[in-house]
Amino acid sequence: MKTIFSGIQPSGTLTLGNYIGAMRQFVELQHDYNCYFCIVDQHAITVPQDRLELRKNIRSLAALYLAVGIDPEKSTLFIQSEVPAHAQAGWILQCLSYIGELERMTQFKDKSKGKEAVSAGLLTYPPLMAADILLYSTDLVPVGEDQKQHLELTRDLAERFNKKYNDIFTIPQVRIPKVGARIMSLQDPTKKMSKSDPNQKAFISLLDEPKQIEKKIKSAVTDSEGVVRYDKENKPGISNLLSIYSILGNISIEELEAMYQGKGYGEFKSDLAEVIVNALAPIQEKYYKLIDSEELDDILDKGAEKANKVASKMLKKMENAIGLGRKNRR
Ligand code: TYM
Repeated sequence: MKTIFSGIQPSGTLTLGNYIGAMRQFVELQHDYNCYFCIVDQHAITVPQDRLELRKNIRSLAALYLAVGIDPEKSTLFIQSEVPAHAQAGWILQCLSYIGELERMTQFKDKSKGKEAVSAGLLTYPPLMAADILLYSTDLVPVGEDQKQHLELTRDLAERFNKKYNDIFTIPQVRIPKVGARIMSLQDPTKKMSKSDPNQKAFISLLDEPKQIEKKIKSAVTDSEGVVRYDKENKPGISNLLSIYSILGNISIEELEAMYQGKGYGEFKSDLAEVIVNALAPIQEKYYKLIDSEELDDILDKGAEKANKVASKMLKKMENAIGLGRKNRR
């Protein structure tokens, strides 16, 4: 059975973007692959985090993974910082990375732009992400479009390591969904929807209440044409809403265009809000059952145990290939 690895940062409550771009794929793929899903808390601290918020977000993300349908009998769910091999392998891969290639990452450029104090971790984040993936001999990495460049770097680092030391890493493939790989901000549809956006109206969180969802969709930026038609270039706002509707409502964009011919944005938006509310209701119900449960801790304990076994073996292989420590000791 082939292996999947993917991770999500606990840097805020998950958005519809994370759900549509990443999580929905995970749920579908877990039946056919050996899956590892990670709460990448060490990635989250590349930018400042409040201690209590971070703790809360880690638990909340774990509960959301399960609430959207990740089955702990099928998939391994764990917290990155509870598996120390990630940071250890990340260090080794940092030593294999060139500063130039890390500085070229668009996410680094975006997140550091105009900032006075940029953490070194923000620059060296992609080799840690590569470590996450390579430790599990991952074949496939399902992600949204914004992670494509990081995956290319992961492949480069794996090939570089294999050539320079020993052929131990599987070269992973990226899997990006055909529709919904980049859900856009509701307030600025030229920017991606992000859980760390300071403007709450820009995203819908998976835990938003029906009233909030209605309000946010109502105030979503569109255009003055008043025609429900998909045209990403000239009508990015409506096109983004059409994508969300199409995916969550399980109806094609062409059908939606036909359904709303001659109707205004008001009716379209109020139907879309209902579709979102209905899609999120069962997720929220499951989430609130899980969030304070012991079951959640048991699942995370078991996940960390299994991940530790697999990851520490690969770390040992890496260290042996490089000549770190003493052979056959530890
Ligand atoms: P993160 O936490 O920013 O996002 C988690 C997943 O959600 C996808 N995503 C989106 N998809 C569609 N539209 C959007 N607006 C949108 N916003 C986010 C992301 O592409 C991602 O799949 N570096 C990663 C976390 C990570 C990881 C890994 C992923 C760490 N190690 C190893 C895969 C494998 C990140 O910051 O994702």
